[in-house]
Amino acid sequence: MNAASKRVAIITGAANGIGLATAQEFASAGYHVVAWDLAEEAGKALVAEISEAGGTAEFQSVDVSKSEAVDAAVAKIIEAHGRVDVLVNNAGILRDGQLVKAKGGEVVKIMSDEQFDAVISVNLKGVFNCTRAVTPHMIAAKYGRILNASSVVGLYGNFGQTNYVAAKSGVIGMTKVWARELGRYGITVNAVAPGFIATAMVKQMPDHVLQGMVSHTPVGRIGEPVDIARAYVFLASENSGFISGTTLSVDGGMVVGS
Ligand code: NAI
Repeated sequence: MNAASKRVAIITGAANGIGLATAQEFASAGYHVVAWDLAEEAGKALVAEISEAGGTAEFQSVDVSKSEAVDAAVAKIIEAHGRVDVLVNNAGILRDGQLVKAKGGEVVKIMSDEQFDAVISVNLKGVFNCTRAVTPHMIAAKYGRILNASSVVGLYGNFGQTNYVAAKSGVIGMTKVWARELGRYGITVNAVAPGFIATAMVKQMPDHVLQGMVSHTPVGRIGEPVDIARAYVFLASENSGFISGTTLSVDGGMVVGS
């Protein structure tokens, strides 16, 4: 099948980790993948890999926190393909730190404005920018699937992640609003809340924290990027048209606080 007749799926943050696996799974499922990322070399390598495996994909260097860049990239996709069927808002960053860290009664560190704003601008505003850009085209087509990366910490909170949790909880809220606003146009909007997945982001965490995560996970392992990718493909399918406004936990049954 050539790219023109395929459903088009934009995957943000597609050059690494969960986004990379998601791009590969969507390509295998027959979508034309548009991979967005800042990491150009890795993004182009992904496109080559998908082509070699018999799929179709293209890379666009897009910073999701910049609405003008997002709008311009969507315009190019519409010009080339005339459609955007799926958006996976996956791009995300971490800038962890306690709100106020004290030792012996003395404040030693605070979460800076830069730390807070950087995470909000990618993980929350980025989701807003990308969704706003594709939605008019999905409304015109009376079809769309919008999938947002939340996190278990967006549901339960987490030590040292004021900024990240604010964004990931906010994503769940926006998912519910957009499900209400867009359902009438055949557009479903859902979030996925991954547990701890073996990517570079999680590998930055200390070993004892990782082991702690495994001990709280009934299936007894850290998740793999493909575990999340398959959830996105499931929610994006035409058969999932009656699922909207929900947050699907994909976390191996993680029991927080146990
Ligand atoms: P990762 O760090 O491996 O990959 C993130 C990708 O996003 C990178 O390729 C990076 O270049 C790209 N990116 C960062 N800022 C960007 C921007 N402004 N514009 C475009 N692309 C940008 O991350 P990972 O672990 O694959 O996470 C993917 C998503 O899943 C994130 O939203 C993360 O918060 C979420 N998540 C991850 C979990 C995990 O355990 N790895 C757990 C829960 C949620």
